[in-house]
Amino acid sequence: MITYTIQTKPLLQQDAEGYVVFVSQEHAVDKELKELHEQFGSLKHVIKKHAFKGAKGSSVVVQGHHNDKLRYLFVMGIGSKKDKSVEAYRRALGSAIRLAEQHKCTSLAFQIPAASWFGVTAEQLGQETTTILQMAAYHFDEYLSEKKQQTYDMVFIVDEKHKKAFNKGFKEGEIIGAAVNEARFWIDMPPEALTPIELASRAKAIAKKHGLKFTEFKEAEIIKKGMGGLAAVSKGSERDCHLVVLEYQAKKKNAPTLGFVGKGITFDSGGLSLKPAQYMETMKEDMSGAAAVLATIDALAQLQPHVNIVAVLPLSENLPSGKATKPGDIIRFYNGKTAEVLNTDAEGRLILADALAYAVKHYDLDALVDVATLTGACAYAFGPFFTGMMSQHPSLAKQVQEAADHTGDRVWPLPFHDDYKVAIKSKVADICNIGSNTYKAGAITAGFFLQNFVEDTPWVHLDIAGTAYNVPDISYYRPGATGAAVRLLIDLARHWK
Ligand code: BES
Ligand code: MN
Ligand code: ZN
Repeated sequence: MITYTIQTKPLLQQDAEGYVVFVSQEHAVDKELKELHEQFGSLKHVIKKHAFKGAKGSSVVVQGHHNDKLRYLFVMGIGSKKDKSVEAYRRALGSAIRLAEQHKCTSLAFQIPAASWFGVTAEQLGQETTTILQMAAYHFDEYLSEKKQQTYDMVFIVDEKHKKAFNKGFKEGEIIGAAVNEARFWIDMPPEALTPIELASRAKAIAKKHGLKFTEFKEAEIIKKGMGGLAAVSKGSERDCHLVVLEYQAKKKNAPTLGFVGKGITFDSGGLSLKPAQYMETMKEDMSGAAAVLATIDALAQLQPHVNIVAVLPLSENLPSGKATKPGDIIRFYNGKTAEVLNTDAEGRLILADALAYAVKHYDLDALVDVATLTGACAYAFGPFFTGMMSQHPSLAKQVQEAADHTGDRVWPLPFHDDYKVAIKSKVADICNIGSNTYKAGAITAGFFLQNFVEDTPWVHLDIAGTAYNVPDISYYRPGATGAAVRLLIDLARHWK
């Protein structure tokens, strides 16, 4: 929990246990921190000893005391101003929280840098500030006897001229950061606690809180409606699958409508095509797409963008049992197409197929984005730093790319050429749920499987298998869930063109 106030008085007039300042490579540290030098006498020695020059990722810590209280100064490097790197600022904020934790400072005063350093508006920088501070402060300590989550009391110092804009940004960032952490919390919850019905009931609570339209189909209805993909994946599980739809309505009439679909496998064992133990360890993360979409609509209901949002969440477990779907089975989806299931571990595409088909059948969508921890192949191709993006709609892909660039929730395009289409041919059904070995490219062939269910709706597929969980080295993340795609989807909706 973070509470904050905005101040225009000088940093050292604030009463705090920790003071945080940001310095660039260009600024002679001496000049910029003149007053700090007087208060923290050892600053110049520490700077010299560590050869601190404001490089991005670098920082120095100085101890002092004032009014009989121990105080810390955290000097965070953001690199060269020429780079205009908001990401350097994000990571400096993340590192500042790590340092505050280490030195047990829960009251912090931040000298917020000028937005012009980064080539953004004060509102944008304010939004980034509170988004990232919350993300950095997140701990999953639900099951720890000794809690780790801190309550922070923060002061943000800004110049009088930009106070209003910063204030607006801080407030927006609070909503966005809370949504990212909400998604992370659901993902980090153990699979016995966060089951399909549990996630569905959390979706219902969110819909109720904001007055969103809410529709839910349970397993019997899903079977009756002909959603054979979702039903087939759920067959091995003792628990029912669910399909949940939430709708946010913009105030303006005739607003464009964006559809968001998120993969919600609350545990992926692989089914009868069982995963090896090591690959199964983190498979509670397999509902990260659904979590991202649900947290996104929660935030958007508060931020009130001028677009309508339809969120569709197919929710199921993927488990083996005497009733489970078998390799060789043929299933029929909501849009009437059939697929041969050769590997029950390629289950994500089966539940997304019905969800996408449902979305395009019942809504007139200007865009459709699905988010899924879909393939290990994508995680191997890009590692943990970029979400894989696939699309045959260049202008939608460009908008998604821009949202990724704005927010630091990064994506990278994969070639999505029709040549790959033949990889999912089947002799006995319309398509096969795994790509032929001749074509490799498992992330792309999975994307082409999904393409069968979107008709001609402008569509982007985001594979977050690498980015959703256990991303190393980025200071505002932690081991566990990252909330990948939440910041991106929120930005896409708010800046829709
Ligand atoms: N949920 C997995 C993909 C995954 C892997 C997500 C690693 C996060 C981290 C997905 O259901 C899966 O098992 N995909 C298979 C597909 C294959 C059988 C064609 C894979 O990638 O191995
Ligand atoms: Mn799987
Ligand atoms: Zn899966």
